[in-house]
Amino acid sequence: MANSVTTDRNAAASSTSSKPTGDTLTVVDNRTGKQYELPIKDGAIRAMDLKQIKTGPDDFGLVTYDPAFMNTASCRSTITFIDGDKGILEYRGYPIEQLAESSNYLETAYLIIFGELPTKTQLETWTEDIKAHWLLHENIKKLMEGFQYDAHPMGVLISTVGAFSTFYPDAKQIFDESSRRKQVHRLTIAAYAYRHSIGRPYVYPDDELSFTGNFLNMLFKRTELKYKVSPVLERALDILFILHADHEQNCSTSAMRGIGSSHVDPYSAMAGAAAALYGPLHGGANEAVLRMLQEIGSINNIPAFIKKVKAGEGRLMGFGHRVYKSYDPRAKIIKRTADQVFDVTGKNPLLDIALELERIALEDDYFITRKLYPNVDFYSGLIYQAMGFPVTMFPVLFAIPRTSGWIAQWAEMLLDPDQKITRPRQLYIGQARRDYVPLNKRG
Ligand code: CMC
Repeated sequence: MANSVTTDRNAAASSTSSKPTGDTLTVVDNRTGKQYELPIKDGAIRAMDLKQIKTGPDDFGLVTYDPAFMNTASCRSTITFIDGDKGILEYRGYPIEQLAESSNYLETAYLIIFGELPTKTQLETWTEDIKAHWLLHENIKKLMEGFQYDAHPMGVLISTVGAFSTFYPDAKQIFDESSRRKQVHRLTIAAYAYRHSIGRPYVYPDDELSFTGNFLNMLFKRTELKYKVSPVLERALDILFILHADHEQNCSTSAMRGIGSSHVDPYSAMAGAAAALYGPLHGGANEAVLRMLQEIGSINNIPAFIKKVKAGEGRLMGFGHRVYKSYDPRAKIIKRTADQVFDVTGKNPLLDIALELERIALEDDYFITRKLYPNVDFYSGLIYQAMGFPVTMFPVLFAIPRTSGWIAQWAEMLLDPDQKITRPRQLYIGQARRDYVPLNKRG
C-alpha cells in the first residue's frame, strides 16, 4: 500500500527485502535501527509522518527544524505558481507576462479570487459590485482624521483596515459565502483609506473612472471639477497592480493565513498581513530603495556603496529574493513600464544611479554567487515617484493590489479541510526545570 508507514522493526526488515514500491521515502533511524517508509505526495512528505519516529515511549517523536520556512510547504494551493530558478510566475496558470500585457487589475483580481477569468457579464457585475462599495463608512473618514498630519500612510492603512472589523461586524460570518463575498468587495477598496495622511481632504470616488483611474483621482484631484486621467499612467498603474496582486506564501500572505486560521474576521487578519508587508525586507523595500538611491546621490558614489554592502554594512535594497534565483519576472516588466511612464513624466533623475547600480552588481562576484538579481521593488519606486506619489506611499501601493491575493489565500485556507489553527513547534533549548529563588537569596 503506497500510503502505509512502517513502524514495526520486523515489518521494516521485511520491507527492505522487497524493494519499496510507489512514491515513498525510506528512512532509517540509526538511533534505533528502525526503518520507516513515508509516502511522498506532490513532492513532499508529511511532517506528521515523522512523529512516529521515536527512541522510546517517552520520546515526543521526530520533528523538523525549519526557521523561516526555508523548505516547508504550509499548504496546498491552486492560486499562484512560481518557478524561482526559471523566473516563472503564473496566476491560476496564466503567465504574468500575458496578464500584464492584456488584462487589467480588476479582471486579474477576479481571476485570483475566483479561479477563472470572468466572462463579460461576470466582469461587469464584479466591477459594479466593487463600485457599490467604493464609498467608505463616513466614520472611517473621521477615524483617519485622528491621525497626525505626518503619520506614515502605511500605519494609517494598517490601523484603518483593522478598524473595519468594528464598522462591519457581519465580517465575522467567515463561513457564510455571501458574507465573505461582501467583505471581498469592501476589502478590495479598503486601501483607499490613506489620503488624509498626505494632508488633503477625502475625494469621493468617480463612478465613471476605472479602478486605477479612480485611485489616481482620489489621490491627485485638487480643485478641478473632473480629474483627467493620463491613459499611460493609468495603464502603468494597472500593470504594477497586476504584478503585485499575489505571490504565493510570502511573509504577509503567511501572516494572513496564520492569523485567519484562528477564525478571526478578515479585516483583523488583513491588518496583520499589511503590518508584515510594511517591513523593509518585504513590501517596505520599494520605499527603502528610493531612500538608498537618494543617499547614494551620484553615480560616483556607487563603488563605495557596493563595497559597504559587500562588507555586510547594509543591503542593496531591491535586490535578492527568497524564491527567485535567476531573475524576478516582475522586475523585467516593470523596467519596460518605467520607460513608458518616463516618456510622459520625464525621467526620474535617480534612474541613472539605479541602472549603474544594477550594472555593477550584476557583474560582481558577491551578487553573482549569491544569485542576487533586481526584484519587483528595485524599479517600482522610481515609477511611483515619477508619477507624483510621495515615497511613504510606496508600501501602500504594494498593499492595495495585494489585497486580492490575501483574500484569495485566506478563503482557500478557510475552506481547506487539511488546515487547522496555525501553531508551529519549537525546539526548547532553555533551562531545565529549577526551583524559584526568593529575591533576598539571589546573588
Ligand atoms: N544585498 C546584499 N546582500 C544580500 C542581499 C542584498 N539585497 N540579499 C541577500 N544577500 C546576501 C545575504 O547577506 C546572504 O549572504 P551570506 O550567505 O554571505 O550570509 C545571502 O545573500 C543570502 O541571503 P539571505 O538573507 O539568506 O536570503 P533570504 O532568502 O533570507 O532573503 C530577501 C531574501 C529578499 C529578504 C533578501 O534578499 C533582502 O534582504 N533583499 C533586500 C530587501 C528587498 O529588496 N526585499 C524585497 C523582496 S521582493 C518583494 C517581496 O515580495 O517582498
